[in-house]
Amino acid sequence: MTTELAPTDAGTAAAPFEPVVIGFTCNWCSYRAADLAGTARMKYPPNIRLIRLMCSGRLDPTFVLKAFAGGADGVMISGCHPGDCHYVDQNYKTMRRFQLLERTLAQFGIEPGRLRLTWASAGEGALFAQEITTFVEQVRALGPLGWPTAEADALPGRDGGDLELPEPAGTSEPAGAEGDAPAAGAVPASVEPVA
Ligand code: FES
Repeated sequence: MTTELAPTDAGTAAAPFEPVVIGFTCNWCSYRAADLAGTARMKYPPNIRLIRLMCSGRLDPTFVLKAFAGGADGVMISGCHPGDCHYVDQNYKTMRRFQLLERTLAQFGIEPGRLRLTWASAGEGALFAQEITTFVEQVRALGPLGWPTAEADALPGRDGGDLELPEPAGTSEPAGAEGDAPAAGAVPASVEPVA
């Protein structure tokens, strides 16, 4: 994640403010929901840039901070519905990280409405498109975030270096699953069940 986003245009009478939103999606559910929305020609705002993770549990909280520090006005995190994660229970960890992020962002003065957690299965293209649309309009109403600030400059990776984050256990692609999603609830061969 070394790429910086183009700074948000605060908008003028001729060119209204267009928010930049980063969407972290899970490979097996929400990314496929976005794909389904696209192939079914369902419309959602082009303001969102989707980043595919193997699982929402792969999301390190610093990814979100770096997105804001790099110019995003809003960040959406999405994954499989609770109980449907293909890596057992990683999305429950996502929920806990989301709560941690909400508290952390508040301390940076970032409105809670700029961060959203949502679930979407691979077949919920229409729902996911609606979630994106609602969130983009919510961020648009909040206006430009106004970073970078001194706090943003102090974040890891802000100097242009890579974050060099280790791969968490249990979030690599399941062995032999190339192209095919494992069934919901199935334990991939490469993942140790979590007690
Ligand atoms: S949240 Fe989709 S595989 Fe874990």
